[in-house]
Amino acid sequence: MAFQIVGTGRAVPEYILTNEEVSKLVDTTDEWIKTRTGINSRFVSTHETITDLAAAAGKKALEKAGLDATDLDLIICSTVMAEHASPSLSCLVQKELGAKCPAFDINAACSGFVYGLDIADAYISMGKANTVLMVGAEVMTRHVDWTDRASCVLFGDGAGAVVLQKGDGLKAIHLTAKGDDKLLSIGNTFCKSPFGRQPVLDPHFKMNGGEVFKFAVGAGLKDVKTVMSKAGITSDDIKMVIPHQANLRIFQVIKDKLGLSEDQVASGIDHYGNTSSASIPLMLDELIEQGRLVPGDIIVMTAFGGGLTSGACVIKL
Ligand code: COA
Repeated sequence: MAFQIVGTGRAVPEYILTNEEVSKLVDTTDEWIKTRTGINSRFVSTHETITDLAAAAGKKALEKAGLDATDLDLIICSTVMAEHASPSLSCLVQKELGAKCPAFDINAACSGFVYGLDIADAYISMGKANTVLMVGAEVMTRHVDWTDRASCVLFGDGAGAVVLQKGDGLKAIHLTAKGDDKLLSIGNTFCKSPFGRQPVLDPHFKMNGGEVFKFAVGAGLKDVKTVMSKAGITSDDIKMVIPHQANLRIFQVIKDKLGLSEDQVASGIDHYGNTSSASIPLMLDELIEQGRLVPGDIIVMTAFGGGLTSGACVIKL
């Protein structure tokens, strides 16, 4: 375990879409969305690109770390879908920030941020990087079907970033994957070709909500218990668990099963919605800014989502 978090940052679009407004687009109500998910509103990108959001979050994280973009040895961005297949989002962030280091994207859907931390840890452990920028950035509102009330009410856009440097902040990390394209998928963008099978031009999001809910709760609980045991900590040692912000009811189960208090489970789903791999770093930066997390606090991050993937880690700030 090789890194510590030395800076955090976040960026969200200007436009706030309320449940009331969503209920003018599809057959739903503020009451249903609030009680079934915990969401009141979400940020939706109108003019902002995913690169704008990712670069802005990265810039703030560097500022808080007191570092310059040229200090970076590596940039990793996690995203379900960036503006281009190539150049990668991370290359465009590198350009925007004026960094000189290698940069690449990863896609582990909503678990992408925790997956990225594991990669950053490997680079720093091996001495291949001293300073890494890890960004989770998503514009999920461009990938959902705005006629499907079961999914469009859930998502929001944003980016969160951390700067990592050599240190002993990371205490344990654990990742899982269980390949499955039935429970959750985001459509492909293949073009027509005279060869092979016919392409499916389907840009939209499909989810079996009930089954994904069960997966999320099961994987989240198992992963958190695994990393707590690896790190040798109990629930009393944890200042806060930051779960992937998918559904308030998932947090409730995690809280009850782990015997945590309300204050020990971070929730910002009311104003962010589900921002996929951006959700954990968005929360982390907000909590640090509010003074609710301070250096020395032990936090647990737990993420789950498409793939199906999941991952958790224990970090001392
Ligand atoms: N407004 C009003 N009614 C809605 C609705 C909406 N936006 N969406 C669905 N409904 C209806 C359904 O049609 C269904 O009606 P019926 O009983 O008459 O058939 C009813 O509400 C219940 O639907 P269901 O899908 O069973 O709701 P749910 O309680 O499972 O909640 C989710 C749906 C998506 C909020 C929930 O399953 C969830 O959060 N899943 C996990 C998501 C997740 O973790 N994702 C992580 C990776 S991104």
